[in-house]
Amino acid sequence: MRILLSILRMLPPELAHSIALNSLQLLYQLKLISIFFPQRFSETSFTFKGLKFKNKLGIAAGLDKNGDFINSLGALGFGFIEVGTITPKPQPGNPKPRVFRFTDQEAIVNRLGFNNKGVDHLVKRVKGRKYNGVLGINIGANKDSMGQKRINDYIECFQKVSAYADYITVNISSPNTPGLRSLHSKENFIPLFKAISHVRETENFLNPIFIKLSPDEHIDVISEITKAIKEFNFDGVITSNTTIEKSNLMLQSKVGLSGGLSGKPLLEKSNELLSLVHLREPELFKIGVGGVHNKESFNMKLEKGASLVQIYTSFIYHGPKIIKKLLN
Ligand SMILES: Cc1cc2nc3c(=O)[nH]c(=O)nc-3n(C[C@H](O)[C@H](O)[C@H](O)COP(=O)(O)O)c2cc1C
Repeated sequence: MRILLSILRMLPPELAHSIALNSLQLLYQLKLISIFFPQRFSETSFTFKGLKFKNKLGIAAGLDKNGDFINSLGALGFGFIEVGTITPKPQPGNPKPRVFRFTDQEAIVNRLGFNNKGVDHLVKRVKGRKYNGVLGINIGANKDSMGQKRINDYIECFQKVSAYADYITVNISSPNTPGLRSLHSKENFIPLFKAISHVRETENFLNPIFIKLSPDEHIDVISEITKAIKEFNFDGVITSNTTIEKSNLMLQSKVGLSGGLSGKPLLEKSNELLSLVHLREPELFKIGVGGVHNKESFNMKLEKGASLVQIYTSFIYHGPKIIKKLLN
């Protein structure tokens, strides 16, 4: 396993990502996942709004944007899986290279820009899944959609996925879609939240709705949003997305690199946001994500108020064995 991960690390990140996920899929199809990655972990199950999470560790959005690997990721033993971010129309994302590894710090900078195959593709995948654990679907807007059109994008995705989602995440925090983070300002999030609230009713969607937040916003902005989340009866937040601040990256020449930083250097910043939200809104449900790479950082998220935890970057660096490391 270690050798395989070392080889993958020598390849361009997106190619390595694709090879790794397709290999996992193959192992799943050959029914070999439980032999290569036996699920011997101690699990604490957790129930929220009738959803039973078999443990508190999930895979974060962005790893399986199109729902192509739900069964194989599920077979690894995650307590829940979040797919997406998905947009109404397929889109290629930003020009390559757009994913950069910082191996010494177990960090990634990405500026993928919501590359995905579109919501109709995802719905087909989700409908045909065999995985029967909790599945969240993360929705967004196409790059060229502005104003009301941008709101309509979220609504279209919501309508198309709501019959298949155990929860829906509204992603307003990707730094790689121009202007998306302006949805953190009141004049923009209120019309979006109104529209989401309305479609929740018309679709009779009774499962949770979470808002995924950026760690780069001012505390007052976060307070306004979390207040509104409660007023609109949404269910919680996911803290956090990647950060545009790269001062924690040791390789100073790369500090000016555009994109969102994830992995170990994000831990402190995403924890600060989590603590802040927990302090202001202790009742609000929280999923903690950002920089989790060992048992200590996993527990930290729970101590700071998260009920569930997600990972992305540490899964890229350590592979499936990270699940056991975090849960045992
Ligand atoms: C390559 C890459 C792509 C991502 N794509 C998405 C995405 O499409 N939607 C989203 O909400 N978050 C996305 N994220 C953010 C992750 O879900 C997570 O919030 C962030 O990476 C922090 O967690 P980590 O430090 O465990 O990686 C992406 C992260 C990475 C590294």
